[in-house]
Amino acid sequence: MKALTDCFEANRAWATRMRAADPDFFDRQSDQQHPDLLWIGCSDSRLPPNLIIGKQPGELFVHRNVGNVVVHTDMNCLSVLQFGIEVLHVPDIVVCGHYGCGGVRAALQSRPMGLIDNWLRHIRDVRAMHHTELDAIDDDEMRLDRLCELNVVAQVANVCHTTIVQDAWRAGRELTVHGWVYSVSDGLLRDLAISVECAEQVPSIYRMF
Ligand code: CO
Repeated sequence: MKALTDCFEANRAWATRMRAADPDFFDRQSDQQHPDLLWIGCSDSRLPPNLIIGKQPGELFVHRNVGNVVVHTDMNCLSVLQFGIEVLHVPDIVVCGHYGCGGVRAALQSRPMGLIDNWLRHIRDVRAMHHTELDAIDDDEMRLDRLCELNVVAQVANVCHTTIVQDAWRAGRELTVHGWVYSVSDGLLRDLAISVECAEQVPSIYRMF
């Protein structure tokens, strides 16, 4: 209970600080959110998205799960995508993975972890697709970090394959999907430079128009 009490104390102190710095801050928050970025990231506690890219409340729309996975039947993720694109009109979506990701590490091992193995199967599929490249890497940590990157590449593609993103492009909307990786060891983001901004960049087999 002590930890939860701390949460409320910290919250009151934060709200007081925010009001002191900007008396109208919460009045503006009560209106409507106007985020300019949809963040799809790992649930890992070391990646608080607002903190690491300097976004205030109201500036970032967020979906997180273990391993920053985008699955075309995941109603949770798809609902965030639809709301972010069709209602909030975010112009940019970021899939952000991180080096040393525990979910990705589990997908490289054979140790059973229970129910989560079903979720991590999506990352194991990415491993299977790139097994030749990954098997050629001798160093375990370098192999892990490369799969962290390849997983981001795969999930960016999955975002682009959704009907939601393709509907937006077909309607002529400006929407770019980016792939980033965060390093917990130095706090820095790396842009994988795989941004997709139109349907023509999507392989024809996944293109719905
Ligand atoms: Co992770």
